[in-house]
Amino acid sequence: MSEIYDNDRTYVLHSWSVQGKLTPKVVTKGEGVFFWDENGKRYCDMASQLVNLNIGHQHPKVVQAIKDQADKLCYIAPGFAEESRSSLAKRIIDLLPDEFGKCFFTLGGADANENALKIAKTFTGRHKIISRYRSYHGATYGAGALTGDPRRPAVEPGMPGVVHVLDPYCYRCSFGQKPESCRMECAEHVREVILYENPDTVAAVFMEAVTGTNGVLLPPKGYMERIREICDEFGALFICDEVMTGFGRTGKWFGFQNFDIVPDIITMAKGVNSGYVPLGVVAVQSRIAEFFDNRMLYCGLTYSGHPVCCAASLAAIDAYEEEGLIENASKLGEVFAEKLGAMKEKHPLIGDVRCIGLFGAIEMVKDKQTREPLSPWNGPAGPMAEVAKRFDDQGVAAFLRWNYIFLAPPLIITEAELLDALSTIDRCLTEAEAVILG
Ligand SMILES: Cc1ncc(COP(=O)(O)O)c(C=O)c1O
Repeated sequence: MSEIYDNDRTYVLHSWSVQGKLTPKVVTKGEGVFFWDENGKRYCDMASQLVNLNIGHQHPKVVQAIKDQADKLCYIAPGFAEESRSSLAKRIIDLLPDEFGKCFFTLGGADANENALKIAKTFTGRHKIISRYRSYHGATYGAGALTGDPRRPAVEPGMPGVVHVLDPYCYRCSFGQKPESCRMECAEHVREVILYENPDTVAAVFMEAVTGTNGVLLPPKGYMERIREICDEFGALFICDEVMTGFGRTGKWFGFQNFDIVPDIITMAKGVNSGYVPLGVVAVQSRIAEFFDNRMLYCGLTYSGHPVCCAASLAAIDAYEEEGLIENASKLGEVFAEKLGAMKEKHPLIGDVRCIGLFGAIEMVKDKQTREPLSPWNGPAGPMAEVAKRFDDQGVAAFLRWNYIFLAPPLIITEAELLDALSTIDRCLTEAEAVILG
């Protein structure tokens, strides 16, 4: 084993892992949709790392922008006005609906959500926040408390005032409905919970624009619009977490644009500069920004609006625009959906497939009729390990969690590369099924 590996295992604590079980791959190179391990083995990055490298590895324009900004001015405190910071704020506001006015910069998704929480509470003078069980909003205390999934326990008892609600999960509807009989009970449930909680105390409803790491859950038609109405009825803000869905992932600039809604606050990170350097954003409507014209904004970070990170974002946004990457995600999203649909028909262990743009999930089951998950929710990998092993052997990097396979390739992927990766995945599933089904 290499020195890199030895030092890693001796000195590095890795995220979300039982440390003693880890055998991390040593990666030495990345380019476009591929990366290579220290033995020269190539992997197709079908997860864009953590669904953040939207323009792929080592995009020359973004790398150059980082170098240029480092030469010019590495750092200046957030209290000063600086070119890359102010240009980026304008550029982001220009991408958003007219209602949006200003940006607060952070270093990533969790702290974007933390600051959105503080802004919402200060603006409304209320303290409760509604979020969903099948959600992830980050690992810090407030964002961890908002999170509904099993990444929450370490922050419990979490931030007071967070109330979780059930999800729009059509394949496993908590309300026992089928698409034909759905009366959007999942949205009415949110309204009912707000009533029980006392609407005058509810500052915001906080939702991922499209639920990501809990299964790419596509809500029934009209769900997001109904949530918007419910927020308006009770004077609560609608905050969309676009950390994973922003910047083209769903085939639109932002995930909320797949619905007929305008959120009050939008949080972003990951794709904002394709993850090359840390950056997050809280974009707020003008009326919220103006509230702070005469009041203290109790938010601050030493690295808020870091010039190098903002310069990288400007270059990434150039790349999205000049290379038509949002359009590519939308166009290839159709090919992606068709191929996933065909895989669902073919494979006995695929229960459901869901995708929007280049954001997809395959849900594996023991039996298509009973829909019992192939590996249990929040349980050990079990038979899913057979899938993971084959992906690794055959050079596909995907993100597997419980009985889900997440597929979110860089938006620069070509149709030929996408088809090639999907055919490898198809083959891996056939081989894994042969072992699992005996
Ligand atoms: C929807 C969503 N929100 C927030 C976060 C947290 O972002 P970060 O890891 O940059 O803090 C993530 C990370 O995966 C996410 O998917």
